[in-house]
Amino acid sequence: MSRVSRVIIPLDVPTTTEALTLVDRLGTQATFYKVGLELYTRSGPAVVEELVRRDKRVFLDLKLHDIPTTVARAVSVASDLGVELLTVHAAGGPTMLEAAARARSGDLALLAVTVLTSLSPDEMGTVWDREIRSVREEVGRLARIAHGAGVNGVVASALEASWLRSHFGDDFLIVTPGIRPAGSSADDQDRVSTPADAVRAGSDYLVIGRPITQAPDPAAALASVMEEIRSADAART
Ligand code: C5P
Repeated sequence: MSRVSRVIIPLDVPTTTEALTLVDRLGTQATFYKVGLELYTRSGPAVVEELVRRDKRVFLDLKLHDIPTTVARAVSVASDLGVELLTVHAAGGPTMLEAAARARSGDLALLAVTVLTSLSPDEMGTVWDREIRSVREEVGRLARIAHGAGVNGVVASALEASWLRSHFGDDFLIVTPGIRPAGSSADDQDRVSTPADAVRAGSDYLVIGRPITQAPDPAAALASVMEEIRSADAART
């Protein structure tokens, strides 16, 4: 895997203009961007097409969760748009996940969202109407369902990455948000890890937002994170 492309920058801004301003500021060293619900709801596929036109790779984070036919059709449209990563909820169940995996084509890889990090064990217990002994167990259970259905990987914290890597092998993609370079603010993130920790735990891609986008010099902040990743990679080999 190209080391340079391991950082994914989330475009957590409301308009295409703001998104492209950030893309311009980061320049050629940023090659992979995440488009989430806010930007996609406002700008639709046009922002994805513009990123692809600029030779950027796109992670479309729509967290699809619907009946199998509807999800399969959305997956097929995302494949046609040139998206490389797309999220689906593992809780949609095996039939939905299998339909999504079958609808995939080209370079698109599907990532399962297991348990939203915003969900407390109590809240999960209310949703599933049973006592939740361990969130880790639930993450593992849902990841197994996704893996069995042919989904290509998961979104997971660095704390779960090594367990996932050892259970599902090297081909299973692990994409990790909640990354904070040492010394930077955790913001509203709960379980944070440094870029080097995530690399050591086996994450393939690191989603890093505010430590880069809110930095006084975003391009310099990205360069420094990429250097940390390069050193961690070098230490592993
Ligand atoms: O600014 P920050 O680095 O916290 O941004 C992280 C990005 O990853 C945001 O787009 C956020 O929505 C996303 N994300 C997350 N935690 C998850 C899943 C996605 O922070 N569990």
